[in-house]
This record gives sequence, C-alpha cells and structure tokens, in this order.
Amino acid sequence: MNPISYQALQISCLQAQEILFELFNIKGIASELPGEVDFNFRIKIENEEGYILKVSRPDEDSNYLDFQQNLLQYVEKNGQDLIVPKVIKDKKGNSISAITDSSGNKRNVRLLSWVSGRVWSSVNPQLEQLRFSLGEECGKLTQALQGFIHQEASREFAWDVAQSLWTKEHIHIFTADDKETILFFQGLFESNFEEYLKLRKSVVHNDANDNNVIVSSALINPKVKAAIDYGDAIHTQIINDVAIAAAYAIMNHNDVLAAALPIVSGYHSTFQLQEEELTHLYAALAMRLVISVTKSAIHKIEEPDNEYLLISEKPAWEVLKKWQEISPDFAEYSFRQACGYTAHPNEKKFSGWANKNDFKLVELFPLVNKEDIYNLDLSVSSNFLTFNSDFNDGDFFQFKIDQLQKKQPTKLIAGGYLEPRSVYTSSNYDKIGNNGRESRTIHLGVDFWLPAQTPVHALLDGEIVTAVNDTDDKAYGGLIILKHQVEGIVFFTLYGHLSVASILDKKLGDTIKKDDCIGELGNSNENGNWVPHLHFQVLLSRLGIKNDFPGVAYHNQINIWKSICPNPNLLFKNETLNNTETNSNNDLIRYRKEHLGKSLSLQYKVPIKMVRGAGQYLIDQYGRKYLDTVNNVAHVGHEHPVVVKAGQEQMALINTNSRYLHENINTLAKELIETLPPELNVLHFVNSGSEANELAIRMVKANTGERDIIASEVGYHGNANMCIDISSYKFDGKGGKGAPEYTHIFPLPDAFRGIHRGENSGEQYANEVQKQIVNIHAKGRGVGAFIIEPIISCGGQIELPKGFLAQSYKAIRAVGGLCISDEVQTGCGRMGKTFWGFQLHNVVPDIVTIGKPLGNGHPIAAVACTQEVADKFANGMEYFNTFGGNPVSCAIATEVLRTVKRYQLQKSALEVGEFLKAALKELAKEFSIIGDVRGQGLFLGIELVDANLKPLAEQTDYLANRMKDHGILMSTDGPDHNVLKIKPPIVFTQENAEELLFYLRKIFAEDFMKL
Ligand SMILES: Cc1ncc(COP(=O)(O)O)c(C=O)c1O
Repeated sequence: MNPISYQALQISCLQAQEILFELFNIKGIASELPGEVDFNFRIKIENEEGYILKVSRPDEDSNYLDFQQNLLQYVEKNGQDLIVPKVIKDKKGNSISAITDSSGNKRNVRLLSWVSGRVWSSVNPQLEQLRFSLGEECGKLTQALQGFIHQEASREFAWDVAQSLWTKEHIHIFTADDKETILFFQGLFESNFEEYLKLRKSVVHNDANDNNVIVSSALINPKVKAAIDYGDAIHTQIINDVAIAAAYAIMNHNDVLAAALPIVSGYHSTFQLQEEELTHLYAALAMRLVISVTKSAIHKIEEPDNEYLLISEKPAWEVLKKWQEISPDFAEYSFRQACGYTAHPNEKKFSGWANKNDFKLVELFPLVNKEDIYNLDLSVSSNFLTFNSDFNDGDFFQFKIDQLQKKQPTKLIAGGYLEPRSVYTSSNYDKIGNNGRESRTIHLGVDFWLPAQTPVHALLDGEIVTAVNDTDDKAYGGLIILKHQVEGIVFFTLYGHLSVASILDKKLGDTIKKDDCIGELGNSNENGNWVPHLHFQVLLSRLGIKNDFPGVAYHNQINIWKSICPNPNLLFKNETLNNTETNSNNDLIRYRKEHLGKSLSLQYKVPIKMVRGAGQYLIDQYGRKYLDTVNNVAHVGHEHPVVVKAGQEQMALINTNSRYLHENINTLAKELIETLPPELNVLHFVNSGSEANELAIRMVKANTGERDIIASEVGYHGNANMCIDISSYKFDGKGGKGAPEYTHIFPLPDAFRGIHRGENSGEQYANEVQKQIVNIHAKGRGVGAFIIEPIISCGGQIELPKGFLAQSYKAIRAVGGLCISDEVQTGCGRMGKTFWGFQLHNVVPDIVTIGKPLGNGHPIAAVACTQEVADKFANGMEYFNTFGGNPVSCAIATEVLRTVKRYQLQKSALEVGEFLKAALKELAKEFSIIGDVRGQGLFLGIELVDANLKPLAEQTDYLANRMKDHGILMSTDGPDHNVLKIKPPIVFTQENAEELLFYLRKIFAEDFMKL
C-alpha cells in the first residue's frame, strides 16, 4: 500500500470518538485495532462490553457491506443462543452510516457490539473439550445461516476452498519438497472435484481461524464463546467451514488428526454432517492451508524482508506435512467415527455377509483338524508369561505353549483380537501424541499358536495383493494378503508369520482358490523372531499400504481400527474365540466404594487401574505406560526380575516364622548392618513402616521408662495407634483431634516458608526442640524420644536445616532421651550422597526405622538399633512377630539391597538426582510460580507459591493431573498441598529426567499456571 494515501485515509482515535458520538450518540474511548480492509477501533465504555467501530475505505463496495450487516442481523435473529457481534444502528436507524472525511471522501461507518474474551491463539492448552466447543459453535452458526441468501455471497474469493485450484498457477514458486506436498493435495482435491461440487452448500462463516475465535475467560475447561469477523463469509460447500475451523485449531498439536476429531464431532453435534461430506474433509482442510501457504509465498516475493510472513506460514506448513503422512482413507474413517457413523462404510455390509456364511477353522488349518478353541490371554495383565522379557525368550515362550497344548490336546490355542498387549516393547511402536508417549498395544488379529510348517489354507477365493518378507525384528516375517470380492464388498485377509518359502512362489495378481494352501507357518528365525503362530486379520481397507499393514494399533484409535479390521471370528462364529476388549473401570470403582474401607482414597480425578509394573514404569490395562516419579517403594524398579525371582523361589521352598533357624534372616541382617554405622548392629524385622515405628516407641518406653515423644509438625510415622499419636500430619489434619498429652510438636523446620527462614535457621529450630524438652520437664516428666525423618516427606520434602539434627540430638541425649531416625521413605541409597538420610547430618541415631524400599513392594520392614537399646528392650517379654523376618520376605529384601549395590544405584540416584535438581532450578528461573526446589538424590520437591509466598494448592493439583494426562505420575504433599514430590524408583535415568522436565515445562506454560 502507498503510505501517502494510507496516511490521507487514516482516522485517528480522537476522530473515531467524534464519529461515534456524532452518529451514534455514544461516548467512549477509542483505540486502534488491526484491520486488513477497514479501519477498526475498539470502543471502551466503563462497565460495559463496548463496541467495535469500523470505518471503511472510500472505495469499499457498499454491496459487500450490506451483505455483512444483513448476515449479522440474520444470525442474530436465527441463532437463539449464539453470541454474535450485534449491528448497532445509528441515530437515524441506519445499519450503515456515512461520513465525509477531511479529504472529502465518503466513508461508510458501522458499529458492532464487542464480544469479550480471549482469542483462540492465546489459549493454552487447547484441550479436547475446547476443540469440541469450537466445532459446536461453528455448527450452530452454520445452522443459523441456513436459508440466508445475498448476491454478494457468491463472489469470487481466493480464500474459498471450492475455488482453491487457483493455487495451481503458482506451484512454480515452491521448491522440491514443498512442491510435492502441494501437488499431492491439489491432485487429490482435483481428482474428486466432480463429487465435491455436488456437496451441500450454504453461506458459512468461512474463517474460524485462531484469531477469529473468542474463548471464555475460564482457565479450567474454557469454552468457545463466539466466532467474530464475518468478512470472509461466502456461499460454499458446508464442509469447507469445518475444514477451516479444524485447519487452524490443530496447529501446534503433534497428532493433528486426533486434534481435529473433537472439532468434527462438535460440529456434527449442532449441524449434522453427511457421510459424503466427510469423504472430502481431508482434502478440503489441506486445501485451505495450501491457499494460506501459497498466499504467503506470493507475499514473500513481494515483501522479501517481511519476517512476519515467514512466522505465520510455519504452522500451516507443519500441519500440511503431518497431514500428508496420514492416510486419507484413515482420516475419513476417523471423521466418520467422530460423527457416529461406522468408521468403515462397509462395516455393516461385511458383518451381514459374514453372518450368512459359515467358515470352519479346519478349512484354515486342514491338517490340524480342530474346531475347539483354548483362548490364550496375552493381555497386559495376563499371567501366562509374567515378565515382559519372557515374551522375548523364545524357548521359554515355546515351552509354555507346548505345555499348554499338552494339557489341552484337543484344542486350538488362539486369541488376541483387540487384546491390549505390552509385548511390543520396541520404540518402533511408540509415538509422541498430543498427550505424551503413546504405544501401539491393541492387537488387531487373532493369533493361532501352532507349530512351524503348519499349512494354512484359503477360506475363499482371493487375489494375492501382498507377498513379502517383512524381516524386521518382531515384524511379520512372511506376510501374505489376499483380496476378496463378495456381494459387492471388497475385503482382505492377512496371514502373518509365514515361512519365507511361502511367499517365494507367490505372484501378485494370482488367485488362490478356496481350500488351496496359502503357505506354512514360519519358524522363529524367519517370522520376525516370534514363537511360531499365524496372525490372521481381516481388513476392509488396506489404507493404501502396499506391503506391511499394522497388526497392532494405538488404544485411542481402537474404535476406528475395529471397524477397519473387524473381528475375524465373524467368519468362524466360534463361541470361545472371544473379543478380548478391555472393560472400563466403572464397575471396579463402584464396588470399591461400596465394599472397601470408606476412608481409602483414589488418586487422580480419573483413577487409573495399573496391571503391570516394569522398572520405572507402570502400565494400565490398556497398555498405556506411565513414567512413575512417585513410587519410592518400588525402589530398584517395579517387579525387578531378580527380586521377584528371589521371592518366587523361596516361596516354593518354605515360608515360616523366625522361631526356626534360617539363613535368610541372618543374611539380610548382615546386608543391612554393612550399610549402617557400627553402633547400629541389632535388627528386628517387621512388616511395615508403621510396625517399625510402633516397635521403636516400645523400645523407647522399655529403655527410658518415659512415654513423652517430641516430633515435628506435619511429620508422619505410620497408621497404627502409637504412630498416629506422634503424626501431626494426621492429628492436625482432617478428622484429627490435635496432639495427645504425651506428644510434643515443634514447628516444621522449613527454611523456605517456616517460622524461621534461611540457611542458618538450624539453630533456631533446634531451640524449638529444646522448648519442647522444657515443656515436658515442666509437666514433671522426662523425655522418651525425638523422632524425625531426615527429609520430611509429608511435610513437603523439607530438608532439615544445617546443624539442626546434630544440635537436637545433643539436647535430647542430654536429658536421657533416644533419637529415632525414620528412614521409611528416605533409606536404602535414595539420598545419593549417603545410604541413609541421617548420614547427611553426621549423626548416629539410637534407632533407625526402615520400611518401604526394603521389600521393593513386598511387605517387609526393619528396626535397627544399638546393642544397648536392644538389651534393655529384651526385658523378658518375648517379641514374636508371625510374619516379620520370614524367609520369603528376607530373600526379597536381601536381593533389593544387593541390587542397589550390584548396579550402583545409590551413585545413579546421586547423578540423576543432581542433574534433575539443577535443571529444576533452571526451570524455576523461567516460571516464577516455582518458589523452591529442594531435596537430595532422587527425593526432591518443587514448591509452588505466588509472589507473596502464598501456597498454590490448586495449581499443584492441576499440574499433577496434567502430568498424568501426559503419562507421568507425580504426587503432591505438604501441609498446604503445594509441593510436588519426585521420588521415583532409583533406576530412573537421565533420559527419564529429561522427559519429566520436558513435560513440566509444557504444563508450567499453561494458562492455569500463570501467576
Ligand atoms: C516416614 C514414614 N514413616 C512411616 C510410614 C508408615 O509405613 P507403612 O505405610 O509401611 O506402615 C510411612 C508411610 O508412608 C512414612 O512415610
């Protein structure tokens, strides 16, 4: 634009205010808004939503303005619950007014009501409900526009998807790769153009882009309020409007198709989309972006220095490239499913045909000659093979199959349709979706577990369309796909894990007749390293995939895949060969609420059912893998094979109480004593941390004759009677009744937000302990013990200030009390620098209680003490504990301690912990909501506060839930529920820490986390 003419046309804010008053008798404050065509002003009026004043250019087509105003008035009249900018008439009752500017030009003026809220592009995150509401609002708008006609609605318009083939003239602007992408979409769009032109048309908004959509101001579950700027409205194929809304709203999502689906279903919920329209949605969406990038490319030539153009076209290109990777058919099936149609259009026809036709399993395997099925469960929670590694141990797997076959000689071992499996451990099966890592776990075929060389025969005539050797590890090996045509339906049958010889003599295009031999099952060397079996799958579409075809799918696409790949048992109708789709958790939750203790809680807003653990991961029943940053019980990793085996083996030999001699209890004692200071060399074994603390307090009473205990504010020491009595976390919390007579609580030694602050607060807190000693004495009694964790876990990962513990111990001992270090959370190498937490403070307690990590999930705990304490406790009364120190528990705990040593896990906790802590401190510089990062080794805490150190519990809870949405488990704690705790199994790696940091950064940037 020529700047001189622009200046001449420009309207100042003051002028805008004058125009407003003159024409509309409204007084307001004007500020400029960007506008491509009009000069726009935001008009603010106190305590009112305000207006937008639009002053046109002198050459503006008044026919077009009339179209705009009529359209808005039509929508206002027809769209009952729609929020639309309202047309405000001038003093004379005109919806378009006119002024003459200082150069004598006639300028049209319009006034519209202002729609308040945030623009779409500023909202983070743009979650499913929000995207659904976008579709919903756009659909309502289209509904409201039905029947609206205006001659200007059928104009030539470059942004109209129906007219998008103008972009072909500019294809030469693009270089190789980009050109190929554009040509692909133009070609696809053009090849279906005739059908496309027949789709329903009406006037639609046509520009629900990320700056034209207004979102409510709620930070949790915001909704789309309105679409603004109707300037691009046009009479066109309705599906284009869906395509445009989706094209912009899916930008910045990893999985663009998944991001688009709620928009499509939202649209469909308020304006029903037709099946034939959905066929063209994939190409229409792409063509809107093709228009966008072509326009940018043209502008770039005109304005090579305009960097803004580069920035704005980047997300469009990103979507186009990702969109091209998606099979157009798969996209169509997904859209259909989102709208409640069968994902595959032939799903019903196929099942109808299959219903009428019976196939026998003996037709598939004539030499096997069995019709009865033994359904083999290989789902995530199956105990047929327990360790994930068993699936990769071919000999063992085969042995188990053979054993089963021996027990079930008349049955054909088979199963697996829609079964969620965790066997596909290779990262080839992973992708990063919109909510973190996703793995392909849902098995789409039926597996028949039969020996190598078993011949497989054709159930019906079929043309060979695939015959390949899929050589990758854990791939199909020999793979054949046959194409069948029956009663106007085309479908395919897939045979995976055949021998290489089976495919060598096959020619594409040849027909295999019913009952002909297709091939033989391969042995494990040639079938992708699997135990011999046939993977049999039915496909209603090949999705344009020539050779390989997925045999497992992502769980979030299960409804689409089960339509594309229907149950093969539709052919056989075998009653045992069940569909093994997993049920939801609702029944479990209901039963639990009715019949399990009412004060048991469930974690997360949407609870998870975990069915398998592996290292630092927990896996739910759908095969979703969660990175566990919470579970310091699974110390050396969930279900560590060596630890599990130790328990299994000992359990098979003997498990009895400690009144009999057994090596295991002595061995465990020796392992523990090796890690402790020499003074602490007597052990008692118990079954839980609570029991350990309970016993410790009994020892105190026996040793000192006193029962007064000094403990920290917000400390937690267990669920038994005595433990609750010394746990301020409980008796000062919900349902608690305050400290009992014999418990003396000193303030939480929190150097960040406690009553004494800063690095040098150790002495002040030790003085608080001293005050409690004085208190006890004032009551005429003596001190029994002082109990504390070296890092106060429930208190919010509070590190004890320097010098505090040594000074407190000294004071306690000076009055004859005992010092207990509760290492239930912190022990066994987690601290990194030291094996036990108290060692960080250069003190030696009289009693150490050990729990959670010792059994890696198995209930075993221990109390270590000095000879003197043990001697005084042994006052004649026998200490008997039915389960404590049994050979199974001891075998397990010994292996836990040995595993820590064998794999140098203490060192690893130090290295990974220090890396993570330093990175979290960096993160705190980026996000001021992070008030403090603290802890040792892999026992860290992140405290969230505002600028005045006010604790932010809601944000902390939000973060933990959002992290869970991304497959990362975190827990919150602290008296104000504003501390995120990080205490993963200590096999947690630097890579895991990096993944954690990546998602923390993502969630900290979300709107709800902003101060
Ligand atoms: C510090 C501390 N002590 C003792 C216990 C009690 O252990 P358990 O639940 O094994 O009885 C816990 C449990 O969370 C704890 O955190």
